Amino acid sequence: MRPLIAGNWKMHLAREAGIKLATEIADGAASVACDLLICPPFPLIYPIAMALDGSDVAIGGQNCHEKREGAYTGDVAAWMLADAGARYVIVGHSERRTYHKETNEEVRLKADAALRAGLVPIVCVGESAEQHAAGQARETIETMLAGSLPERFNGVVAYEPYWAIGTGKIPTPGQAATTHKIVRDKLVSMLGTAGQIIPILYGGSVKASNAKSLLSVPNVNGVLVGGASLSSSEFLGIAAAV
Ligand code: PGA
Repeated sequence: MRPLIAGNWKMHLAREAGIKLATEIADGAASVACDLLICPPFPLIYPIAMALDGSDVAIGGQNCHEKREGAYTGDVAAWMLADAGARYVIVGHSERRTYHKETNEEVRLKADAALRAGLVPIVCVGESAEQHAAGQARETIETMLAGSLPERFNGVVAYEPYWAIGTGKIPTPGQAATTHKIVRDKLVSMLGTAGQIIPILYGGSVKASNAKSLLSVPNVNGVLVGGASLSSSEFLGIAAAV
Protein backbone atom coordinates (compact mmCIF):
# COMPACT_ATOMS: atom_id res chain seq x y z
CA MET A 1 0.00 0.00 0.00
CA ARG A 2 1.18 3.54 -0.80
CA PRO A 3 2.09 5.28 2.47
CA LEU A 4 -0.14 8.14 3.63
CA ILE A 5 1.50 11.26 5.02
CA ALA A 6 -1.18 13.28 6.79
CA GLY A 7 -0.86 16.75 8.29
CA ASN A 8 -3.08 17.79 11.19
CA TRP A 9 -2.95 21.57 11.29
CA LYS A 10 -5.02 21.69 14.50
CA MET A 11 -6.16 25.27 15.34
CA HIS A 12 -3.54 27.10 13.32
CA LEU A 13 -3.31 29.42 10.30
CA ALA A 14 -5.45 32.13 8.76
CA ARG A 15 -6.84 31.75 5.24
CA GLU A 16 -3.98 33.37 3.34
CA ALA A 17 -1.25 31.50 5.22
CA GLY A 18 -3.18 28.23 4.91
CA ILE A 19 -3.62 28.56 1.15
CA LYS A 20 0.09 29.41 0.79
CA LEU A 21 1.14 26.33 2.79
CA ALA A 22 -1.27 24.06 0.93
CA THR A 23 -0.06 25.36 -2.44
CA GLU A 24 3.60 24.79 -1.50
CA ILE A 25 2.77 21.23 -0.46
CA ALA A 26 0.84 20.63 -3.69
CA ASP A 27 3.80 21.94 -5.69
CA GLY A 28 6.06 19.36 -4.04
CA ALA A 29 3.58 16.48 -4.29
CA ALA A 30 4.66 15.27 -7.71
CA SER A 31 8.14 14.34 -6.49
CA VAL A 32 7.14 12.12 -3.55
CA ALA A 33 6.18 8.44 -3.52
CA CYS A 34 3.29 8.65 -1.07
CA ASP A 35 -0.23 10.02 -0.70
CA LEU A 36 -0.47 13.45 0.92
CA LEU A 37 -3.32 14.70 3.08
CA ILE A 38 -3.76 18.01 4.90
CA CYS A 39 -6.38 18.60 7.59
CA PRO A 40 -6.85 22.35 8.07
CA PRO A 41 -9.37 24.02 10.40
CA PHE A 42 -12.97 23.94 9.09
CA PRO A 43 -13.10 27.47 7.59
CA LEU A 44 -10.06 26.71 5.42
CA ILE A 45 -11.34 23.49 3.85
CA TYR A 46 -13.35 25.09 1.07
CA PRO A 47 -10.86 27.82 0.08
CA ILE A 48 -8.01 25.30 0.06
CA ALA A 49 -10.09 22.83 -1.96
CA MET A 50 -10.66 25.62 -4.49
CA ALA A 51 -6.97 26.60 -4.51
CA LEU A 52 -5.81 22.97 -4.92
CA ASP A 53 -8.40 22.01 -7.49
CA GLY A 54 -7.00 19.16 -9.57
CA SER A 55 -4.10 18.52 -7.19
CA ASP A 56 -3.31 15.08 -5.76
CA VAL A 57 -3.16 16.47 -2.23
CA ALA A 58 -6.27 15.37 -0.33
CA ILE A 59 -8.04 17.51 2.25
CA GLY A 60 -9.58 16.34 5.49
CA GLY A 61 -11.48 17.64 8.51
CA GLN A 62 -10.28 17.29 12.10
CA ASN A 63 -13.61 16.22 13.57
CA CYS A 64 -17.26 15.75 12.62
CA HIS A 65 -20.61 15.27 14.32
CA GLU A 66 -22.24 11.83 14.29
CA LYS A 67 -25.69 13.08 13.28
CA ARG A 68 -26.74 14.11 9.77
CA GLU A 69 -28.22 17.44 10.79
CA GLY A 70 -30.14 19.11 13.55
CA ALA A 71 -29.93 21.47 16.51
CA TYR A 72 -26.25 20.90 17.36
CA THR A 73 -24.83 24.39 17.70
CA GLY A 74 -21.18 24.63 16.75
CA ASP A 75 -20.99 21.17 15.19
CA VAL A 76 -20.31 20.16 11.59
CA ALA A 77 -21.74 17.06 9.89
CA ALA A 78 -19.50 14.66 7.95
CA TRP A 79 -21.36 15.27 4.68
CA MET A 80 -20.77 19.03 5.06
CA LEU A 81 -17.04 18.36 5.08
CA ALA A 82 -17.40 16.26 1.94
CA ASP A 83 -19.52 19.01 0.38
CA ALA A 84 -16.74 21.54 1.13
CA GLY A 85 -14.13 19.38 -0.60
CA ALA A 86 -12.83 17.04 2.12
CA ARG A 87 -12.13 13.36 1.44
CA TYR A 88 -10.98 12.36 4.94
CA VAL A 89 -11.83 13.20 8.53
CA ILE A 90 -9.85 12.61 11.71
CA VAL A 91 -12.02 11.26 14.54
CA GLY A 92 -11.16 10.56 18.17
CA HIS A 93 -7.92 12.53 18.24
CA SER A 94 -6.43 12.53 21.73
CA GLU A 95 -7.12 16.26 22.05
CA ARG A 96 -10.81 15.63 21.31
CA ARG A 97 -10.91 12.70 23.74
CA THR A 98 -9.14 14.75 26.42
CA TYR A 99 -10.61 18.27 26.08
CA HIS A 100 -14.06 17.29 24.83
CA LYS A 101 -14.33 14.02 26.75
CA GLU A 102 -15.15 12.06 23.58
CA THR A 103 -15.83 8.42 24.35
CA ASN A 104 -15.11 5.36 22.21
CA GLU A 105 -18.84 5.12 21.51
CA GLU A 106 -18.98 8.70 20.18
CA VAL A 107 -15.87 8.13 18.08
CA ARG A 108 -17.47 5.01 16.60
CA LEU A 109 -20.63 6.94 15.66
CA LYS A 110 -18.52 9.71 14.10
CA ALA A 111 -16.49 7.18 12.09
CA ASP A 112 -19.74 5.62 10.94
CA ALA A 113 -21.13 9.03 9.92
CA ALA A 114 -17.92 9.69 7.98
CA LEU A 115 -18.25 6.40 6.09
CA ARG A 116 -21.89 7.12 5.28
CA ALA A 117 -20.83 10.53 3.92
CA GLY A 118 -18.25 8.88 1.66
CA LEU A 119 -15.32 10.18 3.71
CA VAL A 120 -12.36 8.11 4.88
CA PRO A 121 -12.31 8.25 8.69
CA ILE A 122 -8.93 8.31 10.44
CA VAL A 123 -9.67 6.84 13.86
CA CYS A 124 -7.08 7.77 16.48
CA VAL A 125 -6.12 5.56 19.42
CA GLY A 126 -3.21 5.62 21.85
CA GLU A 127 -2.30 5.14 25.48
CA SER A 128 -1.66 7.95 27.97
CA ALA A 129 1.68 8.46 29.71
CA GLU A 130 0.26 6.83 32.87
CA GLN A 131 -1.05 3.82 30.97
CA HIS A 132 2.27 3.57 29.15
CA ALA A 133 4.21 3.64 32.43
CA ALA A 134 1.88 1.05 33.96
CA GLY A 135 2.41 -1.37 31.06
CA GLN A 136 -1.22 -1.01 29.94
CA ALA A 137 -0.60 -0.05 26.31
CA ARG A 138 -1.90 -3.32 24.84
CA GLU A 139 -5.14 -3.44 26.79
CA THR A 140 -5.75 0.30 26.23
CA ILE A 141 -5.22 0.08 22.46
CA GLU A 142 -7.35 -3.06 22.12
CA THR A 143 -10.20 -1.57 24.16
CA MET A 144 -10.11 1.70 22.19
CA LEU A 145 -10.17 -0.12 18.85
CA ALA A 146 -12.97 -2.46 19.94
CA GLY A 147 -15.09 0.52 21.05
CA SER A 148 -14.17 3.07 18.38
CA LEU A 149 -14.40 1.14 15.10
CA PRO A 150 -17.74 0.62 13.42
CA GLU A 151 -18.64 -2.82 12.09
CA ARG A 152 -17.13 -3.42 8.64
CA PHE A 153 -14.73 -0.50 9.20
CA ASN A 154 -13.10 0.66 6.02
CA GLY A 155 -10.80 3.55 6.86
CA VAL A 156 -7.48 4.40 8.46
CA VAL A 157 -6.28 3.92 12.04
CA ALA A 158 -3.77 6.31 13.61
CA TYR A 159 -1.81 5.04 16.59
CA GLU A 160 -0.75 8.13 18.52
CA PRO A 161 0.68 7.52 21.99
CA TYR A 162 -0.49 10.52 24.05
CA TRP A 163 2.96 10.88 25.61
CA ALA A 164 4.50 11.42 22.15
CA ILE A 165 2.11 14.14 20.93
CA GLY A 166 3.78 17.53 20.92
CA THR A 167 6.46 16.38 23.35
CA GLY A 168 9.40 15.59 21.07
CA LYS A 169 9.40 12.03 22.49
CA ILE A 170 8.94 9.13 20.07
CA PRO A 171 8.84 5.37 20.62
CA THR A 172 11.94 3.37 19.74
CA PRO A 173 11.58 1.37 16.51
CA GLY A 174 11.14 -1.73 18.69
CA GLN A 175 8.36 -0.14 20.75
CA ALA A 176 6.63 1.12 17.59
CA ALA A 177 6.88 -2.34 16.01
CA THR A 178 5.27 -3.91 19.10
CA THR A 179 2.37 -1.46 19.34
CA HIS A 180 1.68 -1.40 15.60
CA LYS A 181 1.58 -5.22 15.66
CA ILE A 182 -0.96 -5.00 18.50
CA VAL A 183 -3.08 -2.71 16.33
CA ARG A 184 -2.72 -4.95 13.28
CA ASP A 185 -3.62 -8.12 15.21
CA LYS A 186 -6.68 -6.45 16.74
CA LEU A 187 -7.81 -5.18 13.32
CA VAL A 188 -7.53 -8.70 11.90
CA SER A 189 -9.38 -10.19 14.87
CA MET A 190 -12.18 -7.64 14.43
CA LEU A 191 -12.38 -7.43 10.63
CA GLY A 192 -10.85 -10.65 9.33
CA THR A 193 -8.66 -10.39 6.24
CA ALA A 194 -9.95 -6.83 5.64
CA GLY A 195 -7.99 -5.88 8.76
CA GLN A 196 -4.75 -6.72 6.98
CA ILE A 197 -5.07 -3.84 4.54
CA ILE A 198 -6.27 -1.07 6.86
CA PRO A 199 -3.49 1.55 6.82
CA ILE A 200 -2.05 2.19 10.29
CA LEU A 201 -0.45 5.60 10.74
CA TYR A 202 1.98 6.48 13.50
CA GLY A 203 1.52 9.93 15.09
CA GLY A 204 3.38 11.91 17.73
CA SER A 205 6.40 14.22 17.26
CA VAL A 206 7.08 13.09 13.69
CA LYS A 207 9.51 15.35 11.84
CA ALA A 208 11.71 15.11 8.76
CA SER A 209 14.70 13.92 10.78
CA ASN A 210 12.94 10.94 12.44
CA ALA A 211 10.46 10.00 9.69
CA LYS A 212 12.67 7.49 7.92
CA SER A 213 13.21 5.31 10.99
CA LEU A 214 9.50 5.43 11.94
CA LEU A 215 8.35 4.69 8.39
CA SER A 216 10.59 1.64 8.15
CA VAL A 217 8.86 -0.07 11.09
CA PRO A 218 6.60 -2.99 10.03
CA ASN A 219 2.88 -2.07 10.08
CA VAL A 220 3.66 1.66 9.97
CA ASN A 221 1.84 2.58 6.76
CA GLY A 222 2.22 6.32 7.06
CA VAL A 223 2.30 9.10 9.63
CA LEU A 224 -0.04 11.69 11.14
CA VAL A 225 1.95 14.88 11.68
CA GLY A 226 0.98 17.81 13.90
CA GLY A 227 3.52 20.60 14.48
CA ALA A 228 5.83 19.67 11.60
CA SER A 229 2.94 19.80 9.12
CA LEU A 230 2.83 23.61 9.46
CA SER A 231 6.07 23.93 7.48
CA SER A 232 6.07 22.88 3.83
CA SER A 233 9.76 21.97 3.90
CA GLU A 234 9.35 19.80 7.02
CA PHE A 235 6.17 18.17 5.74
CA LEU A 236 7.63 17.47 2.31
CA GLY A 237 10.83 16.32 4.03
CA ILE A 238 8.75 13.73 5.90
CA ALA A 239 7.13 12.66 2.61
CA ALA A 240 10.55 12.41 0.99
CA ALA A 241 11.57 9.91 3.69
CA VAL A 242 9.14 7.35 2.22
P1 PGA B 1 2.65 16.35 16.85
O1 PGA B 1 1.09 16.03 16.85
O2 PGA B 1 3.22 15.87 15.54
O3 PGA B 1 2.75 17.84 17.00
O4 PGA B 1 3.26 15.61 18.01
C1 PGA B 1 0.59 14.86 16.26
C2 PGA B 1 -0.91 14.83 16.36
O5 PGA B 1 -1.47 15.32 17.36
O6 PGA B 1 -1.61 14.33 15.45
